[in-house]
Amino acid sequence: LNYNVNRERRFVLEVLFNGLRRLEYRGYDSAGISIDASNSPSSPSLPPFVFRQEGNIESLVKSVYQEVATTDLNLEESFSVHAGIAHTRWATHGEPAPRNSHPQTSGSGNEFVVVHNGVVTNYEVLKETLLRHGFTFESETDTEVIPKLAKFVFDKANEEGDKTVTFSQVVLEVIRHLEGAYALIFKSRHYPNELIACKRGSPLLLGVKEYGEETSCGPSFHDVNFLKKDEQPKEFFLSSDANALVEHTKKVLVIEDGEVVHLKDGAVSILKFDHKGKHSGSLVRPASVQRALSFLDMEVEQINKGNYEHYMQKEIHEQPESLRTTMRGRLIRGGSCKAKTVLLGGLKDHLKTIRRSRRIVFIGCGTSYNAALAARPILEELSGIPVTMEIASDLLDRQGPIYREDTAVFVSQSGETADTLNALEYALENGALCVGITNTVGSAIARNTHCGVHINAGAEIGVASTKAYTSQIVVMAMLALAIGDDAISSQGRRETIIDGLCELPGKVREVLKLDQEMKDLAKLLIAEQSLLVFGRGYNYATALEGALKVKEVALMHSEGILAGEMKHGPLALVDENLPIVVIATRDACFSKQQSVIQQLHARKGRLIVMCSKGDSASVCVGGSCRVIEVPQVEDCLQPVINVVPLQLLAYHLTVLRGYNVDQPRNLAKSVTTQ
Ligand code: G6P
Repeated sequence: LNYNVNRERRFVLEVLFNGLRRLEYRGYDSAGISIDASNSPSSPSLPPFVFRQEGNIESLVKSVYQEVATTDLNLEESFSVHAGIAHTRWATHGEPAPRNSHPQTSGSGNEFVVVHNGVVTNYEVLKETLLRHGFTFESETDTEVIPKLAKFVFDKANEEGDKTVTFSQVVLEVIRHLEGAYALIFKSRHYPNELIACKRGSPLLLGVKEYGEETSCGPSFHDVNFLKKDEQPKEFFLSSDANALVEHTKKVLVIEDGEVVHLKDGAVSILKFDHKGKHSGSLVRPASVQRALSFLDMEVEQINKGNYEHYMQKEIHEQPESLRTTMRGRLIRGGSCKAKTVLLGGLKDHLKTIRRSRRIVFIGCGTSYNAALAARPILEELSGIPVTMEIASDLLDRQGPIYREDTAVFVSQSGETADTLNALEYALENGALCVGITNTVGSAIARNTHCGVHINAGAEIGVASTKAYTSQIVVMAMLALAIGDDAISSQGRRETIIDGLCELPGKVREVLKLDQEMKDLAKLLIAEQSLLVFGRGYNYATALEGALKVKEVALMHSEGILAGEMKHGPLALVDENLPIVVIATRDACFSKQQSVIQQLHARKGRLIVMCSKGDSASVCVGGSCRVIEVPQVEDCLQPVINVVPLQLLAYHLTVLRGYNVDQPRNLAKSVTTQ
C-alpha cells in the first residue's frame, strides 16, 4: 500500500488493527481508532485523528487507509513516542452507527477522546448537567458523557487559572463522577502521546514488552517498579482481553479496580484512587503503587484457527485435547496404577467447609448455567447436599435468599459476565462461601471468589461456547468426586467415574467421527423453522444446551424440553413436520425415554433419536426414526459425549444456512454489561 504513512505510523496503525481483529469476537457491530496528529506537547494544535465505522474491522481498516490517502494528514511526521487507541463495539446504548462507535469525543477538535468497555449507569444525570453547560451530544451512547466531562473539568481548571492541570488529575476528577462499570482509555490533544487508562468492574490488562523481547519469552514472575524510569525502551499495550496482547508480550499486569494507569514519554506510572461513592463528596486520594507482573499462560496458536474454517469448528474438534488439559494433574492414581481420587488444588483448603454447607447453589448464565445443570445430579449423589440452580440475573431480580451456610459456585467461561459478577457480589455480601469455576485466569470471578478451579480449556474464541462447556462439566464432576471423597460407601462409584474420566477424551474423539453424519442431518433440516430437543435426568442439560447452540448460531428457533414435562404442553406441538431430537442414551431414565419415543410415534412425530451404540433397534420401536448412535460412558459423563453431535449439527446448520458461525447476530462472547 502506497499511502503517505511512514513505517512507524503504519506500525502503530497495524498494531491497533491487529488488536481489534483479536477482539472482534467480543464485539463486532462497529469499530474505531484514534492516533496522535501532533508530536509536539508545546503546540498541541492538531487534534488526534479519530476514525469510526459501523461494521467489521476490515471495513474500518480500508476506510482508514482510504482517508489517509485522500486527505492531507501528516502521517509522515516521525514520532519518538506513539500512542493510539482502538475499540470494537457490541451495542448497548444506541444502534450500530459511526456516531455511536468509539472513540467518543468531547466535540469538535477532539480535545478528549475515550474508548469504554462497560456501562455508565448515571449517564443521564451527567448528560443533563453537561447540556446545561452548553455541551451538545451526537450519540445515544452512555460513553459520550465521559470525554465531555473531561473537557468540562479541563476548561474549568484553566478558567480558574490552573494551567498545569495534568492529564491524570483531569481523569481522576472525571471518574469520581462515574457510576457503573468501566474500563476506559483516554487520549487528549492537550496531552499528545499520553494515554490514561482506568477501570472499575470491567477487565483491563497492561502488557509490557521490553525492547528486543521475543514473544516466546520464558516463564517468569518479575517484580517491577514501574515508577522508576529506566533506559530500556518499552512498548505498552492496554486491553480488556489477553488475546490482543499475547502476540506482543506475555508479561502482563492485571489492573485492579481503582487503579489509574498513566503512559507518558514511553514510561508508565500507576496511581490508586480512593473512590468513596457518589454522595460522600470525598476527595480522590491517589497514591502510587508498585505491582508484580504475571505471565500469560497461552500461545498465539491457541487464538488462530489452524486448519479449520471457523473457531467454533476448531473448538468442537479440539475437545479431546481440551478435556485432557482440564484433567491434567488432577486425577491421582492409586497403588494399582488406577486413578483413585481427584486433587483440585484451588479447593483443597475449603473442602471441609463445603461438605458442611447446608446447600450448594450453582450460579451462571447461558452455556455455563447448562453445564452446572448437567453436573447437578452427580453432585447431589456424591455429596448428599441439596444442590439448587440459579440463573444469575434471576437470583438478583428476586434477591433470592443466600445464607452464610451456603456454598455458592459461580460458573463462567470468561469470568467477567456482569450478571454472574453481580450475583457474586450479592453472595459475598450474604456471607456464603464463594467458589469460582472459570476458564480465564486473573478474571474478576477468579479473583473475587474465596477459592475455585480453572477449567484450563484454552482460549475459546467462537461466541457459542463448546469446549468450555464440556470442560466445565468435567470440572464439576471432579468437584463432586472431591466433595464426596470422604464417603466410603460411594468409593466404588467414584472410582468407576474416575476411570470414565480417564477414557473420556478417547470417547469424545470417537463421537467426533459423526461429523459427516451431522452434516447430512443439517442438510435435511436446513429449511426448518423450528427444532425441539427432549432430554431428562443427566441429559436435560444436553437438551437445553443443544437447543441453545442451534438457536445461537444457526438462528433457528429451537427449544430444549424436559421430557418428563412433554405431556404437560409440548406434546401439542407434535406433528409429522416438526423435527424432534430425543436423547435416549442408556442410564436410569432409559425406559422412561423409550415410552416418550412411543408416545411421540403415536402422534406421528418426526424423530431423530440419540442412543447408545447398538441400541438403534430397541429405541425405534413403534415407528420410524433417524438414529444418532453415540459411545456409551458412565452416566454422569454422558452429557459430555451427547452434546458433541448437537454442537456439530448447530455448526453445519449455520454454515449451510450461510450465517456467521463465530459472530452470531446480536450476541457477544462476554457480556460485561447488565
Ligand atoms: C454470553 C455468551 C454465551 C455464554 C454466556 C455466559 O451470552 O454468548 O455463550 O454462555 O454469555 O458467559 P460466561 O463467560 O459467563 O460463561
